[in-house]
Amino acid sequence: MYIDEIKKEMKIPEKVLIFDTTLRDGEQTPGVAITPDEKIRIAKRLDRLGVDVIEVGFPAASQGERKAAQQIKSLGLNTQVCGLARVLQEDLDAALDSDVDYIHTFIGTSPLHRKYKLKMDQDEILQKSVQAVEYIKDHGIIAEFSAEDATRTELEFLQKIYSAVEEAGADIINVPDTVGVMLPVSMHKLITDIKKAVKIPISVHCHDDFGLAVANSLSAVEAGAQQVHATINGLGERAGNTSLEEVVMALMINYGIKTNINTELLVGTSELVSRITGVKMPPNKAIVGDNAFAHEAGIHVHGVLQKAETYEPLKPEMVGHTRRIIMGKHTGARAIRSKLDDYGIEMDEDQFCSLYDQVKKLGDKGKMITDADLQALAETVIGRPKEEKVRLEGFTVITGDNVLPTATVKLNIDGQIKTAAKTGVGPVDAAINAIQSLVGETADIELKEYHIEAITGGTNALAEVFVILADNEGNSATGRSTVEDVVMASVEAVLDAINKILIGR
Ligand code: KIV
Ligand code: ZN
Repeated sequence: MYIDEIKKEMKIPEKVLIFDTTLRDGEQTPGVAITPDEKIRIAKRLDRLGVDVIEVGFPAASQGERKAAQQIKSLGLNTQVCGLARVLQEDLDAALDSDVDYIHTFIGTSPLHRKYKLKMDQDEILQKSVQAVEYIKDHGIIAEFSAEDATRTELEFLQKIYSAVEEAGADIINVPDTVGVMLPVSMHKLITDIKKAVKIPISVHCHDDFGLAVANSLSAVEAGAQQVHATINGLGERAGNTSLEEVVMALMINYGIKTNINTELLVGTSELVSRITGVKMPPNKAIVGDNAFAHEAGIHVHGVLQKAETYEPLKPEMVGHTRRIIMGKHTGARAIRSKLDDYGIEMDEDQFCSLYDQVKKLGDKGKMITDADLQALAETVIGRPKEEKVRLEGFTVITGDNVLPTATVKLNIDGQIKTAAKTGVGPVDAAINAIQSLVGETADIELKEYHIEAITGGTNALAEVFVILADNEGNSATGRSTVEDVVMASVEAVLDAINKILIGR
């Protein structure tokens, strides 16, 4: 395949380490704040997920950050516990006080940061960086050094500072694309150039301002980076960071590169982080989104049912997801039949045509039909009597704030058209009263039970109405209907039961 040819030309590593910064850069997502207890829950989950390093926070920021870091460290996780620190003494001491086993220290290096933020020249920045790394190493702790805004820093200075911190004992250097301005091709060149100046492993930290964080991280790996910074769900400053689930799966599936990630835990981890942070994933989010393994179009569903690989680049179980076949306007008969088989629902051809028709009509109105919807629709179709003594010809309801709810119902009863208008406590009650008044001339029928349910929630959900009716001769029948309109579902369910009683007499 094309990709295999390309891979032969790349110098890709066998394994890439994952540095998770959900609890640090991820927490910098606008509007997100994670309590120390929540940090502990997420850290335990990240450890099970298999990340190599967890950046638990910025210890110098607050007492809470330090406490959370200490508590996470005391859990005895398999992963390295890292704290972020500027190259300042007080930050480094705060990180050391948090008992972390890894310090990620950083300083801005670009002309913009030097002039406007730090008001320092290159020499001063280099000297402080070297001192910080030496201080960390004097305490026997792993040191990762980041040149913040590296991707807008002069290459010569970048090579000089990375080489200086390597000499000072840094274990790994990180290349942050702080404002996400890189392209995959420029990232490749930058990492290649930095590699000429240092021998220690190179890490990359990409932001997603142009939606290129994952692509840029992969490009860095192609050029020889051995570690990627990432966050669950791509959380992070502004548009976020490299999404851990996306980059890990791309590394494994597209490049054949190993990581230590237990990929089946990805969806569960994404859901946990989403619940805790309140940041919902869009349904079309790669790997973990609700639609990542959902198929609607008829042709696709047909293909997937024959052989999943036709329209799935990876198995949903691999990432802890499940395949969903969604019914909608593109759904073909084959997919519906296969679903019915799964539920063990049998129906004759006429019933199937009626069900298929309803699915298409709902689809045309833009409705997605879930598994539960389809089962309710199928049950309604199967339960419907074959002949109709009473058929609905038309119906209107009037309801509102200062109006007495009124329903006008037009029925065809044994070939005769009859109309009645009745009031009720609400539109459903009014409609049922109108039906009863019309059918009353043929049979004295009483409503015994009425249940309504919105199948999948939401205001546009299908309403499933279930009724039990009885006549004065002791005959009773159940009626059911599943449509979007609550009043219509009630009318149809009542007529369904009436027909069953009249036919059975
Ligand atoms: O984006 C960035 O530059 C950072 C640094 C702290 C590494 O998050
Ligand atoms: Zn960042």
